[in-house]
Amino acid sequence: MIVCKSPGEIERMRVANALVARVLAELAETVAPGVTTRDLDALAEKLVRAGGAEPAFKGYRGYPATLCASVNEQVVHGIPSARPLDEGDIVSLDMGVKLNGFYGDSAITVPVGEVSPEVRRLLQATQAALQQGISQVRVGGRISDIGHAIQRHVESEGFSVVREFVGHGIGSALHEEPQIANYGEPGRGPRMAEGMVLAIEPMVNMGRPAVKVLSDGWTAVTRDGSLSAHFEHTVAVTKDGPLVLTMRSATTSVS
Ligand code: MF3
Ligand code: CO
Repeated sequence: MIVCKSPGEIERMRVANALVARVLAELAETVAPGVTTRDLDALAEKLVRAGGAEPAFKGYRGYPATLCASVNEQVVHGIPSARPLDEGDIVSLDMGVKLNGFYGDSAITVPVGEVSPEVRRLLQATQAALQQGISQVRVGGRISDIGHAIQRHVESEGFSVVREFVGHGIGSALHEEPQIANYGEPGRGPRMAEGMVLAIEPMVNMGRPAVKVLSDGWTAVTRDGSLSAHFEHTVAVTKDGPLVLTMRSATTSVS
C-alpha cells in the first residue's frame, strides 16, 4: 500500500527534509583533503540533533552511524572511518533524519579538492539523471517512468545504472512502498497520486553496473573497481508537479 500524505503531513516532511538539505550542504563545505568520514559523521550527528531531529540510519538494521559516506568505488552504505580523504577522491554523503514523526532522506556526491574532467562528468551526469527522473513526477504518471528517464540519461553519457538498490516511498517510515528502480521500461507500476512522497536515488557507475557488498555487511562497491556516484532527493507529488523537499539553497556551492 502506498501512503498518501495530507498537506499538513507534507509540511512536516518539508521541515524534516529541509534539515537534511541544510546538513548535507554544511558537510559538503567541510569536505577537504585530510578530513575523515568519521569527522563528517560526527558533524552530521551534531547538526541533526541541534535541529531537534534524530538520525534515521543510526540503529536501522544495526547500521552504526548517522551518515553513509561512500568513497570512490564505494557505491552506497559506506561506514564512516578514520581514513582521511585524499585530493581527487569523490565521496557520496547519504543522510536521513526523523523529525516530528516524519523522515527526510537525501544524498550528494562531492569532489575532494580537484578531480579529473571525467570524474566531474560522472557527478554531473548522475545529478542530471536525478533531475530527469524528478521531471517525470506528475499525478497520473507511472512510477517506472522515473527509472526509465534516469537510465536513458545515464546510458546516453556512457555510464551505467546500479540495479541492486532502489529508491522508495518515504513518510512515517524511512522505507515505504513503492520501490523506485533506476532503470526499466516506462508505463509500468503504480500511478503517481497527489500526496505521495518519493525518495529518488540513482547510483551510477563509471564502468560496469555490477556491485558487491563487502564483508562488513554494509559497504557496496563496484565489482570492477570503477568510481560510483549517488544523488538523492525526497520529492512530493503535487497537482502542480514535483515538489523537491530536499532542495539545497542557491547560496551553497553544491546544487
Ligand atoms: N538512503 C539510503 C536508503 O534510502 C540509506 C539507508 S540504509 C541505512 O535506503 F541503513 F544506512 F540506513
Ligand atoms: Co533513500
